[in-house]
Amino acid sequence: MLSYLFEPDDTTPAKPQAAPYAPSAVIGASLSRIDGPLKTTGRATYAVDYNFPRMVYGVAAGSTVGNGTIRSIDTSAAEKMPGVLLILDHDDIGDLLHPSAPNGRSGIGEGRIVLSNNNVGYWGQFVALAVAESFEQAQAAAAAVHVEYDAQKPNVATALDDADVTPNVPSKRGDTDTAFPSAPVQVDETYSTPTEMHNPMEMHSSIAVWDGKSFTLYESSQNVDGYYNSLSAALGVPRENVRVISRFIGSGFGSKLSPWPNSVLAATAARKLNRPVKLSVSRKQMFTSTGHRPRTQQRMRIGAAPDGKLVSLQQDYRNHSSIGDNFRENCGEATPFLYSVPNLQVTSAIVKRNVGSPCPMRGPGAVPGLFAVESAMDELAIKLKMDPVEFRVHNDTLTDESNGKPFSSRHYKECLQTGAEKFGWSRRNPAVGSMRKGDLILGWGVAGASWGAGRRGSEVTVVLKDDGTVQASCASQDIGTGTYTVVAQIVSDRTGIPVGKIDVVLGDSSLPPGPGSGGSTCTASIVPGAADGADAAVKALIAIATQTNSSPFHEQDPATLTVSKGRIHVMSKPAESGIPFQEVLKLAKVDSATGKGKAGGLGSDSDARNYSMHSFGAQFAEVEWDPGIAKLRVSRVVSVIDGGRIINKKTATNQIVGAVVMGVGMALMEQTIYDPRNGHPVNDNFADYLVPTHADAPSIDVHFLDIPDPMIGQYGARGIGEIGLAGIAPAITAAVYHATGIRVRNLPVRIEDLLASEV
Ligand code: MOS
Repeated sequence: MLSYLFEPDDTTPAKPQAAPYAPSAVIGASLSRIDGPLKTTGRATYAVDYNFPRMVYGVAAGSTVGNGTIRSIDTSAAEKMPGVLLILDHDDIGDLLHPSAPNGRSGIGEGRIVLSNNNVGYWGQFVALAVAESFEQAQAAAAAVHVEYDAQKPNVATALDDADVTPNVPSKRGDTDTAFPSAPVQVDETYSTPTEMHNPMEMHSSIAVWDGKSFTLYESSQNVDGYYNSLSAALGVPRENVRVISRFIGSGFGSKLSPWPNSVLAATAARKLNRPVKLSVSRKQMFTSTGHRPRTQQRMRIGAAPDGKLVSLQQDYRNHSSIGDNFRENCGEATPFLYSVPNLQVTSAIVKRNVGSPCPMRGPGAVPGLFAVESAMDELAIKLKMDPVEFRVHNDTLTDESNGKPFSSRHYKECLQTGAEKFGWSRRNPAVGSMRKGDLILGWGVAGASWGAGRRGSEVTVVLKDDGTVQASCASQDIGTGTYTVVAQIVSDRTGIPVGKIDVVLGDSSLPPGPGSGGSTCTASIVPGAADGADAAVKALIAIATQTNSSPFHEQDPATLTVSKGRIHVMSKPAESGIPFQEVLKLAKVDSATGKGKAGGLGSDSDARNYSMHSFGAQFAEVEWDPGIAKLRVSRVVSVIDGGRIINKKTATNQIVGAVVMGVGMALMEQTIYDPRNGHPVNDNFADYLVPTHADAPSIDVHFLDIPDPMIGQYGARGIGEIGLAGIAPAITAAVYHATGIRVRNLPVRIEDLLASEV
């Protein structure tokens, strides 16, 4: 039935560049993180790990109503408590923020400036800040602030059926209104995904140090330059007077792309008190005031001809947003180009709820969007009596039909076929409940994955030193994904200097600018900057070698010289004929040779703009269903990723494994439940908000196609931070259907959903 032959991609356009760059063996190696020892020995400094003389502590107090206005705030008791230095409320902040601080969307994750008025839009919204000599004193004072509210009932309804919303149309071709009703085989179903919290291990934390003119802000940020820009604007301080430091980060998943009110409050209090202020939100506050993935509701109408060719695909989605923000969860991120279909429409609408501000969360839009699209594809395959892998391959395309552009590098079909082989898909019996392992019923499901590819500008400075070491530096941060190691690998590739001799300094806005760890763009962005910096440092070294009297290369033509294996030598001769780079520096009596690297983003790349650039993947999941005790477990996942060239197999595999585990949480566990009486997220802790533990993690097999993308840059490396989560939840719910006969369209899958199973 299924053919696993790889057909040649003869519609793939020829590369517009010359012979592809062939990197050395350090690229693609499975290297451990160079920052690993610092982390495992506790020497890595996270935001709250810094301490300063005269430092004091801030604790924010949150609203206890979900909707309304503050009638009065009584801070007198709190102000008299021991150690208390400052209580801020909505009467105070306006004067403390610089007059030029923008109103409305400020680059702060929550558009409303914290404490800027007496309105309350969600439970837990910060209404006051207490600052004291000790953390405990600040906590006690925050609890002693007495607030009276004029409260109204909050709207936290989960059904997003509000009539008064106006959809817009992000993508349209053909005419779905006539094509869908006449399609011979149809699926018309509505899917929903719940509010999910990022909950990185490290909570959102700030230490603000003010010297009367300049701020130094120690932040937990996955976007150091973004925090630098947003906070200098919000605080009304010239950019040259702000420095953001984020050396090590306990992840972010999108919640740390923008600063939140805690950062603004810490800086405001530091300026007012002239003392360093440390402010970390609590785990409970992570459920209200630092972003979330909004709830989505998506109606899918999808139709095919009896031969399995798609004729119409319509996705009408809604997501909730907070009262103060219009955050769009772009559920149609991948819909317009994933399959060949002549009639397509995506509509989008925002529905207001009394919840904190939503923000991007790992694979924003695409991840919940593909839950709906790929679930509907599975349901349609079943109606067509087609194998779901074959059905997807049958509708593959090498042209982005939303804009007519060819893909720079698309191997979705190969992901599906490779995954099918590795998973053993040909042994699947499609009949529901037909596959057994002892007393357990097995379910096998598949779904496709996609996520955009991007490249931003970056600048990396590389310094070759006379002690035989190298330093590479950039403002970009490493949120745990391996950026330190990737930069070292690139410098090593360009120079032949071993990774162990390369020191990488990241996470400081005073360093050359670099990308955020967001949108899966950091690797693709920082790699060209690092390569350019290393090449520039080599050029500087060669110049020194040719200008130094005592150098064996004195007065030689620089164009004939190169550096490899860490040695400078004549290009036509082996590296061993030359001398180590540090010897040249010593002969010249200089301590270093510096290269300032700079690379542009895709926006400035006119060739790349002619291509549609995305990563692809295929997810295969096995569940074990024990009907005797209604127990469901994800037992096995095979994830095949087309993410361009893989720079570091180990850190890349970590990314996908982590994403798969997160996908198990999305499918079976995660949801934020708001109390309809007051808008309180009732499960605002790790006892009640369930995430997978090791015992819940399946056996995970990760495979990378490792095909360089000719348009993303010389190394062909796209980012892989988000693609691994896309497709996991629909693969699991497809497997659940295969095991139980129950189609779960509203995540997460609950045991209650499955009790009706007749299998
Ligand atoms: Mo990602 S949502 O850009 O961390």
